[in-house]
Amino acid sequence: MKCLSSPAGPGDWQGELLVVGLFSQDGDATRRALETRFGSALLERLEAGGFKAKPGSTASFDLLDGPLQRLVLIGLGAPESFDLMALRRAAAAAAQAGKGMTGSLGLCLPLEGFEPSAAAQAIGESVRLAGYSDQRFRSEPHQDPRPERCEILQLPAAGDAALERVAPICSGVELARELVAAPANALTPEVMADTASAIARDHGLEVTILDAEACRERGMGSYLAVAQGSDLPPRFIHLIYRPEGTPLRRLALVGKGLTFDSGGYNLKVGAAQIHMMKYDMGGSAAVLGAARAIAELKPAGVEVHFIVAACENMINGSAIHPGDIITASNGKTIEINNTDAEGRLTLADALVYASELKPDAIVDLATLTGACVIALGEEIAGLWSSSDSLSRALSDAARSGGEQLWAMPMPASYADGLKSDLADMKNTGPRPGGSITAALFLKEFVAGSIPWAHLDIAGTVWSDKPRQGQPSGASGFGVRTLVEWVSAGGLA
Ligand code: BES
Ligand code: MN
Ligand code: ZN
Repeated sequence: MKCLSSPAGPGDWQGELLVVGLFSQDGDATRRALETRFGSALLERLEAGGFKAKPGSTASFDLLDGPLQRLVLIGLGAPESFDLMALRRAAAAAAQAGKGMTGSLGLCLPLEGFEPSAAAQAIGESVRLAGYSDQRFRSEPHQDPRPERCEILQLPAAGDAALERVAPICSGVELARELVAAPANALTPEVMADTASAIARDHGLEVTILDAEACRERGMGSYLAVAQGSDLPPRFIHLIYRPEGTPLRRLALVGKGLTFDSGGYNLKVGAAQIHMMKYDMGGSAAVLGAARAIAELKPAGVEVHFIVAACENMINGSAIHPGDIITASNGKTIEINNTDAEGRLTLADALVYASELKPDAIVDLATLTGACVIALGEEIAGLWSSSDSLSRALSDAARSGGEQLWAMPMPASYADGLKSDLADMKNTGPRPGGSITAALFLKEFVAGSIPWAHLDIAGTVWSDKPRQGQPSGASGFGVRTLVEWVSAGGLA
């Protein structure tokens, strides 16, 4: 569903479905407009039905005469707590209310306190993404009818341009959702590389795909150690977006791309939801989704590299043994004391590769640790960075994109947990602080002078239940943070 703006108000908007947000306090202009249009019986009915305009509550009225077929009221709670996130939730709820209807949806929400372009983008994204439904794997695909259009009532003209950004960004988020939800027999490393090549072809990016042999020549022993346990060949993916003219900044985005993580010989057993480890490529999905969006948005002045070391963590006869010692492409040796800490092994060589491009900043995204899920839950991703200003820039970008990050500590002393008696380091530290030692492990593979940030998105890529008005399943988390950060110039 595409959003546009409409100068009409709730009292005179014409279309099939009118959705109006109401604060819990009485007597605002919106209520008066509704009363004038629909009569005082409306507010009496609301009162009788116990509608208190609490956040998340709705009341629906079917209308039988005239083109307007339904009026839906959405509770917004107290005005003080109506922030950009609440605006996104309300817009998603409006889109849900449109399920089964056709024609136009008129959406009236209080926009006074918001910067118009931020409000427009938040509404446009939420409305479109709330209507996402993945039917690829059904023999009989089914899409519920939805209104064709969403008209945002009384959006200040300054918001119009932001609506143009919605489609490219959402196409990127939807691509990420599709990649994450695709099972491991559909999304293999080769299919991921083909997807990247298709993005490059369709949207004008440069693409390089390295096979196992080319990775061996580059000494990527850490990445290849993980890949060797699978019958499927690995694919190292590198896409480049080049702006017109000379770039002011050069950025590298790196995504963990495990199309399946069985754990290897440290097999995932017991409570671990092994079948969900198809989503262990959520970082790479965010990076490829961002690539698609950025290729379409064409931000000026930034060159962006998108890097994924895609493979599976499996247990064929050639798989690494727990205890194996391998050498990464920067020459560091690693004792693999746990084959299930595979993501950091693949990222190690990807970060060395990214560092060799000498970018102004590197950001990696990875479904890296269960420990991060325990610490921050399923709505907030962990953020580690060697640079406070990069950390701040990413946090700002996440806020604009409607995603949540929380900055986490990276004390050097915790690196002691990675000391090995035999090799330069182990790949796994002690259980306490497991997401911190994971970040410290990655740090060893980033050239010291390059500002770097690591996002552990293990908790946020998937949701078993609908969340913030968005459908359950793959969230597409990370795309919007990356797009906002790059669009703002990739500050570090
Ligand atoms: N892909 C997992 C992390 C993960 C766990 C993602 C749960 C999403 C939900 C990662 O490869 C892994 O297995 N990490 C181990 C590391 C441990 C062996 C140090 C973990 O978190 O248990
Ligand atoms: Mn693992
Ligand atoms: Zn993993």
